[in-house]
Amino acid sequence: MLHILVLNGPNLNLLGERDHSIYGRRTLDEINAEIAERARELGVRALFFQSNHEGDLIDKIHAERKSSAGIIINPGALTHYSYALRDAIEAVRLPTVEVHLSDISSREEFRRRSVLSDVAWKTVMGKGPQGYIDALEALVEHLSG
Ligand code: DQA
Repeated sequence: MLHILVLNGPNLNLLGERDHSIYGRRTLDEINAEIAERARELGVRALFFQSNHEGDLIDKIHAERKSSAGIIINPGALTHYSYALRDAIEAVRLPTVEVHLSDISSREEFRRRSVLSDVAWKTVMGKGPQGYIDALEALVEHLSG
């Protein structure tokens, strides 16, 4: 069975409390439960990890690189400046979908640039929690196609 690593970066553990007008009301646990359910339907297994620490996310990517078929990642603010996370994604050469709940292209200037996009296979933004589901479906189709 294919394993998909679902990573969330800094502050995404506070979903449900963070600005509802930008990030909605669902908690990360609720979103992850929906991803797990969709994964089951698609016949794959999702593995979840959230951290507020750049190095822990990188360590997780390294640790799971051999057992995972692909990655879904919302890097939080690391999106905009973490070359270390970018390089980890590039190094493991797993198809990676970058997800943002909000549309980072229409927010503050500093959010408009992603240093990860060029190593991501796909980017999904501005679709709220549905973006993770879209990412999963695209990844599974890509991996089985
Ligand atoms: C985010 C957008 C980032 O700019 C922000 O720092 C986040 C969440 C999103 O999901 O829209 O923490 O990645």
